[in-house]
Amino acid sequence: MKLNGQFFGYFKEAKKLTKTAFKYEIPFNTEIDLDVGSLKGYNNKTIRRLSDLKGFFYDVHVLEEILKKGKDPVIYEVYSYSPPQEEGGLCFGVTVLRSGKIGDEYYMTKGHFHKKMETAEIYIGLKGKGYLLMQTRDGDATIMRIGRGTVAFVPPYWAHRTINFGDEEFVFMYTFPSDAGYDYATIEKTGFSKIVVEKDGKPVIIDRSSM
Ligand code: F6R
Ligand code: ZN
Repeated sequence: MKLNGQFFGYFKEAKKLTKTAFKYEIPFNTEIDLDVGSLKGYNNKTIRRLSDLKGFFYDVHVLEEILKKGKDPVIYEVYSYSPPQEEGGLCFGVTVLRSGKIGDEYYMTKGHFHKKMETAEIYIGLKGKGYLLMQTRDGDATIMRIGRGTVAFVPPYWAHRTINFGDEEFVFMYTFPSDAGYDYATIEKTGFSKIVVEKDGKPVIIDRSSM
């Protein structure tokens, strides 16, 4: 028996099998720095810059002008713990969505369905504030505010996108089944029906079709 601070474990078979058999993954814990929003021990990092989000913001000209000036700001980063994509596993991680706007539209994530549509997901607000926008294939849409401590349930079959309308980073944790996969193409084709823009210093939710 190995005792190590808060952690002890006795692994006979599991250690040998970790690399080949997911069901023998070893229990572990890790930490999220709640002030910074960083996740210790992530095994995957994704950075999305403005150039990765071409076609997502409504004001194409403003976006192109920024890129033409040689600027390509980071819009968000995702730090994740991603186990093998097998049934029964859980992915979790932290998204850090920067504060800013393209024209009057607030920084946001691309948004996606999961490839396995019947997958739910949990978001937990850690820092800053933002919106979680969700939409079904049939066009139903809803938007909710996420702040520190908010727990949001994304049901199966709902595409989801986050939007930072605050003046600091919007950081949230997420967790979902690791065999879910991503489908970006479906929602990219139709687009989300709502966008969030700043009007008189305040975030306003409007129909994208009105722009
Ligand atoms: C995972 C999930 C989040 C997002 C992340 C970035 O299922 O919903 O981790 O992946 O916030 O957003 P996308 O993936 O839309 O670029
Ligand atoms: Zn998701």
